[in-house]
Amino acid sequence: MSRNAITITPVTPVIGANVDGIDLGDLSDSEFAVLYDGLMAHGALFFRGQDISIESQKLLGERFGKLVAHPNDPGVDGHPEVMPIHADENSVRATGEEWHSDVSCDPLPPMGSIVRMHTVPETGGDTLFACMYAAYEALSERMRALLDGLRAVHDGAPYYQRVNRLLDRDDGGRTYPRAEHPVIRTHPVTGRKALFVNKLFTQYIVGVPTGESRALLGFLFEHVSRPHFQCRFRWRRNSVAMWDNRCTQHHAIWDYWPATRSGYRVTIQGEKPE
Ligand code: SIN
Repeated sequence: MSRNAITITPVTPVIGANVDGIDLGDLSDSEFAVLYDGLMAHGALFFRGQDISIESQKLLGERFGKLVAHPNDPGVDGHPEVMPIHADENSVRATGEEWHSDVSCDPLPPMGSIVRMHTVPETGGDTLFACMYAAYEALSERMRALLDGLRAVHDGAPYYQRVNRLLDRDDGGRTYPRAEHPVIRTHPVTGRKALFVNKLFTQYIVGVPTGESRALLGFLFEHVSRPHFQCRFRWRRNSVAMWDNRCTQHHAIWDYWPATRSGYRVTIQGEKPE
């Protein structure tokens, strides 16, 4: 069978690319190689018209690495490593409504995530993506020197416990991942430096007084949300987005209540940030 030529069209100079001419449910090795290089180059890739099953989405994720279950979500029946993303008129919250890198509280935070949306609102429900290489590179030399070598604690408990309270869900006293990571990490594939703190999980910078840690993180959380580092993805039914959590953050916008937005995410294990 002849295959279409894959085209990868950047969305902004720093982040995101639209990919055409590919069927994510039937990827050859050479197509996967193009996709992988595209993800490393653009941080987030976007696809249209991908009517793939949960099984195909898992197989796609497994091309990148081991899939991991979410620490606060039981997953889809029979597929613990597939996290449903869902909000409708009865929801009291929606997933990912703040700038974050997925589950950065884990000692081995995810390298990437892949979402397919099967139900979308008529308007709204876009996801913002931000490039953490660009965020790092926009800092002054002095600020980079200050941050270099600093480490920060990322903790899942405050966020996941808040979610459970909102959902009136008993977490049975479970403990959540918590880990210390460098504030500036070096991407293991591209070798580029990226800012690695986020508003959802990063609690404090290690070894500096509380006030200084708060001030620094407050500045960095504001800094990463500058529009210069961002692109915005408008979902359609059967759109897929995949992103590299090591050099990007994202923010899902819940501006569509009472409409329904629904899809599935698979999450791929990463390595210890260095
Ligand atoms: C997430 O994975 O954090 C949410 C992504 C989305 O709903 O757009």
